Formats: sequence, structure tokens, C-alpha cells
Amino acid sequence: MRNACLPLFIMITIMMTQPLGAQSLLYQDSEATIEERVEDLLDRMTIYEKIGQMTQLNITTINETGHQSNVELVEEKARELIGEHHIGSFLNGEAVPPEQWFEFMDGLTRLGVEESRLGIPIIYGIDHMHGASYLERATIFPQAINLGATFNEKHSYNTGYVTAIESADLGHHWNFAPVLDLGVNPLWSRLWETFGEDPHVASVMGTAYLKGLKTEDTNPKKVAATAKHFLGYSDPKSGWDRSPAYIPMQAIHEFHRPPFQAVIDEGIETVMLNSGELNGVPVHASHELVTGLLRDQMGFDGVVLTDWADIEKLVNFHYTAENYKEATYQAVSAGVDMSMTPLTLEFNEAMKELVEEGRITEERVDESVRRILRLKFELGLFDDPFPRSDRFDRIGSEDNRLKALDAARESIVLLRNENGVLPAENPRKIIVTGPSANSKRNLSGGWTITWQGGEEEQFPDRVMTILDALNVEFPDAEIVHAKEIPEPDQLNSADLIIYAGGEEPYTEFIGNINDLSLSPEQLDDISKLTKSDSPLALVLVQGRPRLITEVAIDVDAILFAGLPGFEGAEAIANIISGKVNPSGKLPISYPMNPNHFIPYNHKPSDVYFFEGGNPNEIIQEDQDPSLFPFGHGLSYTTFEYSELSLDSSQLNEGDRLQAEVTITNSGNRAGMESALWFLTNHVGKITRPVKELKHFEKISLEPGESVRIEFSINPEEHLAYPNQKGDSVLEAGKFTVRVGGLSEEFYLDLMN
Ligand code: GLC
Repeated sequence: MRNACLPLFIMITIMMTQPLGAQSLLYQDSEATIEERVEDLLDRMTIYEKIGQMTQLNITTINETGHQSNVELVEEKARELIGEHHIGSFLNGEAVPPEQWFEFMDGLTRLGVEESRLGIPIIYGIDHMHGASYLERATIFPQAINLGATFNEKHSYNTGYVTAIESADLGHHWNFAPVLDLGVNPLWSRLWETFGEDPHVASVMGTAYLKGLKTEDTNPKKVAATAKHFLGYSDPKSGWDRSPAYIPMQAIHEFHRPPFQAVIDEGIETVMLNSGELNGVPVHASHELVTGLLRDQMGFDGVVLTDWADIEKLVNFHYTAENYKEATYQAVSAGVDMSMTPLTLEFNEAMKELVEEGRITEERVDESVRRILRLKFELGLFDDPFPRSDRFDRIGSEDNRLKALDAARESIVLLRNENGVLPAENPRKIIVTGPSANSKRNLSGGWTITWQGGEEEQFPDRVMTILDALNVEFPDAEIVHAKEIPEPDQLNSADLIIYAGGEEPYTEFIGNINDLSLSPEQLDDISKLTKSDSPLALVLVQGRPRLITEVAIDVDAILFAGLPGFEGAEAIANIISGKVNPSGKLPISYPMNPNHFIPYNHKPSDVYFFEGGNPNEIIQEDQDPSLFPFGHGLSYTTFEYSELSLDSSQLNEGDRLQAEVTITNSGNRAGMESALWFLTNHVGKITRPVKELKHFEKISLEPGESVRIEFSINPEEHLAYPNQKGDSVLEAGKFTVRVGGLSEEFYLDLMN
């Protein structure tokens, strides 16, 4: 009984430092509650093991080449990082076959379970925003800007759903999506990663995506979602990515907060922070935003993850900290739980020093580690950590592809169609030209196969370009791909000219621009094409609304294709032929002028003019200064709205007001229509937007068919607005309901 005589503290140390055998300890008992398991495990962890759980490293620290594309595990590197430094999370990669991901994740998971003293499994983060974009054979949906354009939450749900069922089995348990930033700045290089400029659309689409990602069809595997990038990232003053944003807190509460609040209320597990500074303070160093707003006011109690190397950015980009240790102190004090360091052990070293100095307490560390362990338990990683390879048939299935095609079809916006040049009825000859005419990569944008979008040859053979799709769509027509702009006589021989232009893929700072105009070369080519006698259709394959004002009036038809994904070319061709009736609507305002960008829900003083030039006669009409306004989108049929009615013109606080309207398909072909319900609050102590989208629904109607739809107005939900503290303000007064060009007024009375 030698041990019996050993001093107690030595016995405890022996217990704490010995690999645990198979004995079942409370945290290993799947019958125990998650809270019991978290607390039991936390009690067993050393401070260094806890710090390791707060660290996320990039795949390049555990592969051979140090390049993101190298999804091959170097065991000794992983063994050291997990065994000696207790690292609890890794991220990233590029598109490789599921078999390769399985091998990589199986090896890494085994090391996590076997090399860490307490058998704590790692959690792997990856950017699968529009499908499992780093997985070969996966289904790639339209980007979020296109999902917003569908005004149909089904497609956002399907994007999350298919992403989950194609990647959950592979150990991709932490998806860094959805992006809930507001797409209000057309210059911003990540506008296309958002659901557009409206808070309600982003809230509905973000929640739908989350619900899809949480499907039980992945059972027993689960995928955690990430609300990113909290917050105010998307409206940098200069338009450049991660440059300063100045957004008053009242506007933050009213416009930028709602999409994050919506998914927090739906139970999203993690939040990734905005790399940039908001109102002079980097979000990563802002206790007011990360703890005061996100946790205390918005009620988020999950894991807060930094964005890429953002603690380091406090030293060498924002200069709020003299060194990495101070930066770590600022970020962890602000409320950060996990550091996407992600290339060094600087965070671990800084944390060890800060804890040893007592500047960061073990209690503070426990707060973060508790959240991280809870996430891992909730995902089932302790009970079933290993990837599985028995359901790869789900990846890229025809069912999933059709969901992506359906989304792409409903996401294309017909902006202009003079003289009904579209759909093209039995064309004999189509000339297709422009930089996106024969490109696969342009159709999907960034975060596809690779960070900045894969090279053409990396795209699956089955993915079509617009040229390919036109050949399939019009088998009896001559489809001519013109690499240069042809001479007028050749142009005149065509029944339709299609110019497919827009942008090459990009994201983040790589996509920074100084001028929103479409490239001069493209504008020049389009202008040349307008000189021909043949109908000209412009197809804009782009992540943001590049200025086309100087040519728009001379082009017969314009399609905003956005970034429609792997099925995008087929969807575009389907619309050009009329096989599909377009139903997309702009989720952003399409600017008219180079230096006047305002969203649809702008303030009254954003737009005015002087009657007869007399500065004393300011005239404000409900005019929208954009080339094509938010919510604009044409169809090959026509929809008429009639009989807008309210069940009362007087609404009392605590009651609801029922609004109804009839929509009729007055054209000669079936079509889908998104009914957009707007409200206007005519007088507010804090200036009120000229109108705000508060409800939308999409319906299908046969020719001649009518349907009556409704919108139930709840004062607290639909008429109140936040003040600068985020408190809800409800004011009596006149309101207007608007839908389909119709409007009705009503008055709100308050009890007290
Ligand atoms: C990037 C992006 C973020 C992404 C992360 C990991 O910097 O800002 O959206 O999830 O790094 O790739």
C-alpha cells in the first residue's frame, strides 16, 4: 500500500497527470447531463489544457507543405500541438475528395482523442457558406446575395441543409456561416456574402439557413453554425475591407443588430467577430460590444471566436496594443473565448503569462472553456468523435443539385426587358461574348474550391459555362462564342446578342476597388454592341452592383445574375429561353451614380430637390435615386395588386392590424411573385426611414389566377424602433402600409 503513505497532493498530481484509462469518469458518461460533464471535465483540466482549448490553429500548421490546399495530416506536427500544447481546434482547407477529408479528419480526431490526456476531441472549423465549398463533388449553391434575391427562405434553408448533409459526416462540425452582415455598401468586397441591404431579409434568410444546417438528417452528426462578423463590418467608410466603420449605435441597433439577434434567438452556437474597428474601437478589443451588447443585451451565451489573426491585428493593424500579450489581454477581457490565432502559439504563451501574473484569472479562463466544452458536448464529439464514410452518396446527389438549381433559377433578376426581347423565341443564331461567357469560376465567386475561387480547371467537368448552357438550351440554334467584339454585319446576323460581363471572383481585401463602375473595357464593348440592329441582353455575373448607367438605356435586356453557383449557367439559359419565368428581385439598391450610394430604407433628408430651384421650397417625394431600386425584378408575366384593405384604420397598442391584398396573374404564363410589405412611420423622434420592409412571401400563380394574402401588423414587432441604447421606442401617430404599389394609412394609439 505504498501509495497510502504518499502525501495527498502527490497523489492528486499523479492522478491529474496520468493518461486516463478506460475507466468511466463522469464527463465520459453519456447519460450525465452536459452541464455535469462540463464541470467534471473542467475540474480535471490543468490551466494549460484550458488555454489549449481556447486556441484554433490553421491546417497549415499540421500539413506538409504549409499551403491550405494540402489536406494531408503530418501526425507528428499534430501530435505535438495536441499532446504538448493541448490545441482544441483547427480550421480550413481546400476542395479535396471526401475520401481524402475522411482520412485527414480520422487521423486528426484520433490524435485528439488519444493524445490529449483527458481525451478531449478537437473541433474543426471550415467556410462552407454556399455549400461544402471545400469538398470535391459537393453541391454549390448560389452565394447569399442571390439567396436574398429569391425572397424565398426555402432556398436559404436548403443551402444550410445540403451543406450539413454533405459535410457533417466528415468531421466538419463547425461551419463558419451564415454571414449576417448588412449589404449596404456596394463597394465592399464581401457584399455578395450577405443577404443584401435589408435587416428583415437578412434575419429571415439567416434563420432559415441555421434551421437547415441543424437538420436531424445528419444524425448522429451535428454541425454548429457561426453568426458572422459581429458587427458593423459591412459598411466601411472608404468601402475597403476591414477599414474603419462609423455607425451610430442607434443605427447599429436598428439595422445591423437584427439579423444577429434573430439567429441568437434561434439558438445559434457561435459568433465570429468583425476584424475591423467600429466607431474607433476594434471589435476584438471592445468589451462594450462583445460582452455588453452581444452577451448582456442580446443574450448570446455561446462561443465567441476571433476572425483570422485578429488579436495580432490589435498590434500591427489597429495599434491598440503595444505587443501581443497586451492584445491578448484586451481581447480576452473584451469577451473572446477562442483565438483563431491561427499560425503560431503566441496566444497560448501570452495567456500563460497573463494567468501566471494574475491579470487574467482562472475563473475568466473557465468561462470560455466552459462554453467551448459545452459546444463539443452538444455536438456529440465526446461520444461519437470520428468521421464516417458510409454516406458519401449524399455528396453531390441529384436531389441536392436540383435544390441548388431551383435556388439559382429563382435568384436571377430580370432588371430590364425592352420590347420583350426575352425570352428568346426559337432564335436561329445567338452571339455570346464577354468575360463571363465561357467562365465557370465567375459564376460562383470566392469561397469556392479555394478562398479566392478556384481556377477554371479545378471546377468539375459537369459544371457548365453560360456558353455551354446556351448550346444545351438551344440545340437547333447556332451559338457563336465571340472572343472579340464582332463587326457590325456579323452582329446584325444574330437574333440575339448576349454580353456576359461583371466580375472575376474575389473576397476580402483582394476585392477592394476604388471605383464601382463596371470596367471601362466592358462598358466600351457593350457600347459597341448597342450599335448593332440585333437585340442585346446584358448578363451581369458579379458580386456587387457595378455601375452600368451609361449603357443601361441602350441595352434591350439586363439580367442581374449575381453569383448563382455551379448550376448558375443552366439557370441563366433557362431564363433566356423562357423555360423558367424569372422571379428574382434585387436585395440591394443598384446605384445610378458613382458617388451617391443610399439604401432603399434611407432617411427623408437623403433625397430632396428644390421646387424651381428655390431653396425655400424643399420638395421630398418618395423617389428612389437608384438605377434599379431594392425589390425591383421583372417577370415574363404581369402581376396586379388590388383591394388592399386594413381591418381598421385605428390600431391600439397591444392589438394587431390585419392587412390584406389580392394579387392576380394578369399575364399569359405562370409565374412566381414575392409580395413585399413595407411600412412607413411618418413622424419619429429619431428620423424614420422612408419605408421599411417588414414582411414578404412568395407565391406561384397560373395565368388569370388570383390569391388574397395577408400581413398581420404587431405594433411592438413592426412599428417600434430602437433608440441609441437599443431600448424599444413606440410612438403614436400615422403609418402607411405599402404593397405592390398600393398604400393605406392607419393610426397607432398608445394606452398611456
Ligand atoms: C477570414 C474571414 C472569415 C472566415 C475566416 C476563416 O478572414 O473573414 O469570414 O470565416 O477568415 O477562413
